Parts: sequence; structure tokens; C-alpha cells
Amino acid sequence: MKWLIIGGRILDPASGRDEVADLLLEGGSIRKTGQGLTAGRGFHTVDASGLLVIPGLIDMHCHLREPGFEYKETVASGCAAAVKGGITSVMCMANTDPVNDCASVTAHILDKAQQAGLAKVYPIGAITKGLKGESLAEMAELAESGCVAVSDDGRPVHSGGVMRRAIEYASVFGLLVIDHAEDLSIAGEGVMHEGFVSTKLGLEGIPSAAALSEIARNIALVREFGGRIHIAHVSTRSGANLIHHAKAEGLSITAETCPHFFTLDHEAVMGFDTDAKVNPPLRTADDVEGIIERLADGTIDAIATDHAPHHRDEKDREFDLAPFGISGFETALALTLGLVGKGRLGLMDAIAKWTVNPARIVGLPGGSLAEGEPADVTLVDMEAEWIVDPDRFLSKGRNTPFKGMKLKGEVVNTFVGGRMVYDREKGIIN
Ligand code: DOR
Repeated sequence: MKWLIIGGRILDPASGRDEVADLLLEGGSIRKTGQGLTAGRGFHTVDASGLLVIPGLIDMHCHLREPGFEYKETVASGCAAAVKGGITSVMCMANTDPVNDCASVTAHILDKAQQAGLAKVYPIGAITKGLKGESLAEMAELAESGCVAVSDDGRPVHSGGVMRRAIEYASVFGLLVIDHAEDLSIAGEGVMHEGFVSTKLGLEGIPSAAALSEIARNIALVREFGGRIHIAHVSTRSGANLIHHAKAEGLSITAETCPHFFTLDHEAVMGFDTDAKVNPPLRTADDVEGIIERLADGTIDAIATDHAPHHRDEKDREFDLAPFGISGFETALALTLGLVGKGRLGLMDAIAKWTVNPARIVGLPGGSLAEGEPADVTLVDMEAEWIVDPDRFLSKGRNTPFKGMKLKGEVVNTFVGGRMVYDREKGIIN
């Protein structure tokens, strides 16, 4: 199908373009962009006046749960939730069952993604076999079968020696290494941030030092042995500061944070809300400030959801026993726009962290509205206000600490490869 998107505010961080113009999508690509474009035969037209037109979001960190945990999420339900959130490409973590440490699991995920026909899915393979932190997975096989990165996310790679070899080995195949930076010997059995709220609630805490220590280890490896590493879900001011210094030294370190880390602090856990239980945990108000500052100064390159859907029955338990994770696809963009609305991050910058930046870090197509680029496009109503109602989520995971919150900015349409796959009125289109 061919589309002409007329009169929207085109915002394209890849080129710095911000103007009212039209966009012509044909054959899966952005065929033409400019003012006064006219539709030829067979074109469908979308009036985007008053709307923001941005490259489809690229989420470099999520959990689609398939294979193995289809009761939490499937590739199809996850992709539906993603496109509703304006996300057109997702990179899914390897902590499935079986673990994605071999070609057959990668192929299974890609097959499910093709059947779903919604967001583009880029699997992340495991760094170590079975996520055990011991022997390296077959990275040649993972790269060949379609993985774009490797990570043991959910678990850190504890051994510095194994991580050193992982960085060296992955670079041969062009795979990005993404580390869940948490020193488990410091984190212990903690279930939330270690601080006054954990003391008040009588819950075991995860000190900020757990993140800092592992980030420092990773930086040491890159400094001494070369290569590059991407730090997942940065949650602390101290961790972000360390990354800032490493970058100033010229080291190949990149980093992401998640919307919950710039929106909520550990007070959200008061009342034992298991939907606010996430790993790394929600930190202090000062950490939230620190993360925002490091987003604004460019230290934190990307924003990713860490979409981690869980079944209601698993979350409706004692805080200690509930699993870590937040269902993030359907609130991510509006929470990011919230930061923009408060004047803490420029709009262009915010969208860059969801589009061109992750595309460049990973080497993925998309993330730009230039002619010839993939026709992955998101239309946003910046003025629309809505209340987060988990019952209306397309994700099977209803675990959100943002329930009941009023957000501003809503996705109107999502195009993937030139096909309209989501419409605010009609829902999913496939
Ligand atoms: O909160 C989290 N949930 N953090 C992780 O690192 C893993 C994830 C999951 O798989 O549920």
C-alpha cells in the first residue's frame, strides 16, 4: 500500500529537520518528502495536520517472553503493544525458555515475528550459554541467524574474564555487547533500592554500589582491552557520572535508561506495590535528577523500555516473592514527552534517543525520515491527554506503576515498512 502523509510537523533528529511537510511512503521506503506533494493513483492519504511525524521508535531493550513464557507475553502480543506505543523496531532479550543462545531459538522468534507482521523484531542472543555466566555462546551462529547484539540481561556476567572474552569475541561478528550492570555480591537478595524506604518497609535493599561496581568493571575492561560495551538500564546518578567520565576519555561506552528511572523514585514502592518492583530498582529522587541531567548532556545515549511483562498472578504476591519488571511499551513515549513538557529535555533530543541513536549504536536500519530510509513512521498527537488503564493494554503484562496516571501525548498512527499497522480509532491493523 502507498501512503501520503500530509501536513504534519516532521521532526527528524537524524538530519535535524523540524518543519511542516509531507511524506510519501511507497514500496516499504520513504519515497519522497517535502512540501506540496500530491498523491498519485493508488495512494491513501493521511491528514497529519497538528500531529508530530517522527521516525518509528527503536526499543533496544525489551522482553517478548517467547519461547517459554507465553502466559506472560507472546511475540505477537508484544509487537501489538509496541506499535500501539509508536515503537516500530524492538530488540528482545535472551532470557526465554529455552534461552536464546542458539540459531534454532533465534529462528523461532523471527518466525513468530514474521507471522505477527507488526513491529520489526531484532533478537538479542545470550552472552553465555544458558545465561549461566560461564562459557560463551556460539556468537557466530547467533549473528548468522539474525541476532544483532548479545546480553545475559536479567543477570550480569559476573566474571570479568568471561566478559573480556565476550567483548573480544562479539566484536568479530559485529555484535553489540549489552550488560545488565549489577554486582550480585553487593545486590544480594535485595528486592528494592537500599535506602530509607526499604528500611521503613523492612525490605532487603539493593545498594547503588551494585550498579556502580559493575559499570566500573566494564569500563576497566574496555579501557584496558579495547572493544565496546553498552550499559543497560542505568538507574543511578553515580553510574551515569562514571559513564560520563569514561566517554570523556574517549572509551567506546554507550548507555540507555528507561522511562521509569526518570519518572519515579523508590517512594513508588510505599504500599508494597509490586508493579513498582523492577531490576535495577527505582532509586532516590536525587538519582532521578542525575539521570535526567545525564540524558540532557548526552551521556545517556538512548531510552529503552525494558518492557518486562509478567502475569497478574505472579505480581499479586508478597513483595519479596513477586518478579521484577514493568510492562513498558504503551507508556514509554508519553513518559518521555512528559520530560519534554517539563522542559527537562528538548523534543529533538528526546526523539533522537528513541530513533537515530539506538539505530547507530546497534547498526540497525531506520531511525530516520530521509528519502530511501525504511518507511517506519509514527504520528503523535502531542496534545491528547489520557489516563493509563492497564486493562486497555495490548500487552498481556498489566504490571505498570503508572496505572491511573494522566499522561500527555498519544500515538495516532504507526507505519512499519510502509504499512499502517496501528490506528488510534481502529486499533491494530494487519
Ligand atoms: O525488572 C526486570 N525484569 N529487570 C531485568 O533485568 C529482567 C526483567 C525480566 O526479565 O523480567
